[in-house]
Amino acid sequence: MEQAPLIIAPSVLSSDFSRIAEEVKTIDESGAKWVHLDVMDGRFVPNITFGPKFIKDLRPCSPLVFDTHLMIMEPERYVELFAQSGSDYITVHSEATIHLHRTLQLIRSCGCKAGVAIVPSTPVVAIESVLDIVDQVLVMTVNPGFGGQQLIPSTLRKISELAQLREQEGYEYLINVDGGINVRTVKDVVACGTDAIVCGNAFFNAENRTSFVELMIELAREERNR
Ligand code: DX5
Ligand code: ZN
Repeated sequence: MEQAPLIIAPSVLSSDFSRIAEEVKTIDESGAKWVHLDVMDGRFVPNITFGPKFIKDLRPCSPLVFDTHLMIMEPERYVELFAQSGSDYITVHSEATIHLHRTLQLIRSCGCKAGVAIVPSTPVVAIESVLDIVDQVLVMTVNPGFGGQQLIPSTLRKISELAQLREQEGYEYLINVDGGINVRTVKDVVACGTDAIVCGNAFFNAENRTSFVELMIELAREERNR
C-alpha cells in the first residue's frame, strides 16, 4: 500500500493574531490537513501565547484536525479544558508532567488523541514506556518557545529511532516533527521516516501558501521514492 502523503501542520504561532480567522482560512485553502496550535505558559518555555478559549473560538472556523501542542508545566491540570475546546490531538511534553502515563490516559479518556513531545535534549528512551499508548510522537527539532529557529541536526536520529521502534514493536503512533522545517530541511526529516511536519514561518511567509504546501508534499514524495 502506498504511504499517505506527508501531513502538513501549519502553526498559527507565525500568523497575525489580529486576523486569526482569515489566517486559519488560508490553511484550509492551502490543502494542509492539520492546524498546529502552540500553547505556551511562560514557565515551560520563555514565551506566552494563548489558552483554551482561543482554540474554542477558532473551532467553528475550520474543519481541519486541531493539533494542540501544550508547552506548559503540569499539563494534566488543563487537559479537560483543551479537550472541550475542540482539540483533536493533545500533545504534552514528557519533561512537563511527572505522571506522563496517567496524563496520556487522561487525554484519551477525554476523547482526544494523545501525543507526547520531547525537546532536543530528551532521548527517545525517556518515552519508550508510553509508546504503546500514544497516537503521536512530536519530535522537537528546535528548543521550543519561538518560531523561526534553525533545525538542530542532532535531533534527526530520534526520528529514525522512533520509526524503527514502531516497525519492530508494531506501535501505531504518527511521527511529527516541529521546528525549522522548510523547503531546505523537509527531505532530511522525511528521509528519517516522519509522517507529519509542523511549519510556522515557512508557511506563513510563503509567497503562495497553496504552492508551498504542494511543493512540500512533492519534495516528500521525491525523497520517499528515491
Ligand atoms: C516552537 C513551536 C513550533 C513553531 C515552529 O516552540 O512548537 O510549532 O511554531 O515554527 P517554525 O516552523 O517557524 O520553526
Ligand atoms: Zn509546536
